[in-house]
Amino acid sequence: MSAPILTVRDLRVAFETRAGSLPAIDGVSFEIGRGEILGVVGESGAGKSVTGSAVIGLLDPPGRIVGGEIHLGTERIDTLPPERMRRVRGRRIGMIFQDPLTSLDPLYRVGEQIVETIRTHTDLSARAARNRAVDLLAEVGIPAPERRIDGYPHEFSGGMRQRVVIALALAAEPELIIADEPTTALDVSVQAQVITLLKRLCRDHGTAVMLVTHDMGVIAEAADRVAVMYSGRIAEIGPIESVVRNPRHPYAIGLMGAIPTLTQGAGRLAQIPGSMPRLTAIPPGCAFHPRCPKVFGRCRVERPEPIPVGTEPGGIGTDPARIGTSAVACHLYDADAAGGAAPHAEPLQVR
Ligand SMILES: Nc1ncnc2c1ncn2[C@@H]1O[C@H](COP(=O)(O)OP(=O)(O)OP(=O)(O)O)[C@@H](O)[C@H]1O
Ligand code: SF4
Ligand SMILES: [Mg+2]
Repeated sequence: MSAPILTVRDLRVAFETRAGSLPAIDGVSFEIGRGEILGVVGESGAGKSVTGSAVIGLLDPPGRIVGGEIHLGTERIDTLPPERMRRVRGRRIGMIFQDPLTSLDPLYRVGEQIVETIRTHTDLSARAARNRAVDLLAEVGIPAPERRIDGYPHEFSGGMRQRVVIALALAAEPELIIADEPTTALDVSVQAQVITLLKRLCRDHGTAVMLVTHDMGVIAEAADRVAVMYSGRIAEIGPIESVVRNPRHPYAIGLMGAIPTLTQGAGRLAQIPGSMPRLTAIPPGCAFHPRCPKVFGRCRVERPEPIPVGTEPGGIGTDPARIGTSAVACHLYDADAAGGAAPHAEPLQVR
């Protein structure tokens, strides 16, 4: 297995407020390999965007990293000075957000923006950079790129604009792309095209992707592995076929109620009675316990840590965050506490 592109270890992020230090992310660990897409799902407020913002070093104040480590390849990036991190962001990490206009400057032609990115990160001449920009626009499926390169962002439709953003994100040949709800604002048919494109390009370029979305159709279509977040922690992580088709954590089971594919229409996450706790009122023990159909005594007092569960060839993983292993943070899967036999070694049925 090649070394991961992104390694997040025991990440903790807090918002310092008048109400105290609020733990938005509390011990999140995962890795993303070359050319791999990790889908990150969970209800609103789970901590998906805060995790992405922490990785790119753009946490909104008063948020700050209060623990853990983030590595890009072999370099630790969470401790880099802001100026160095700005360069890492431009060159080694690309970003795609829900609204393409967050990434595009309305006052400049799209070509100028892509060329500037290319020239900042390579030593290509102006002419060579423009040719490269035309190639990139063609690669993301913009018709007549030689002409469209001189258009302004408002002259593109929503779907075409998001393609331009993908071209811009790829312009510096980043190792990692953080995509936060990249297709949410688009029509369903366009969503499918953009996701298929993102997946193909990342495979071709070997780019690692953290794909944050509410949409299980997008996950089912694009992701290799999935992390299900709840209340600032990962409830379950593993390959798509195990987490989506055979979820183990009661929260993941609830979310995966219906998994339509993109071609069948956008699949929102299933509804689970109750709601995500506020940061000021995270329940003790397992944060999901007030909503969990399988809750038992221990859940109310002891926080479950990720437990490796083996579903892949090669058997049970040893490190919950390693690529290719699955982990579930739920006491039901704690074999030690159950006297050597996990009470639910097989996926639960709580639907
Ligand atoms: N600037 C901020 N100040 C205080 N709390 C914040 C701030 N930004 C986010 N939070 C809190 O951090 C938690 C995680 O938020 P985050 O935006 O990561 O959720 P999310 O999973 O991306 O949700 P959504 O699906 O709605 O985008 C939430 O409880 C949110 O209220
Ligand atoms: S630890 Fe307990 S409350 Fe939490 S998900 Fe597992 S069974 Fe439910
Ligand atoms: Mg978000």
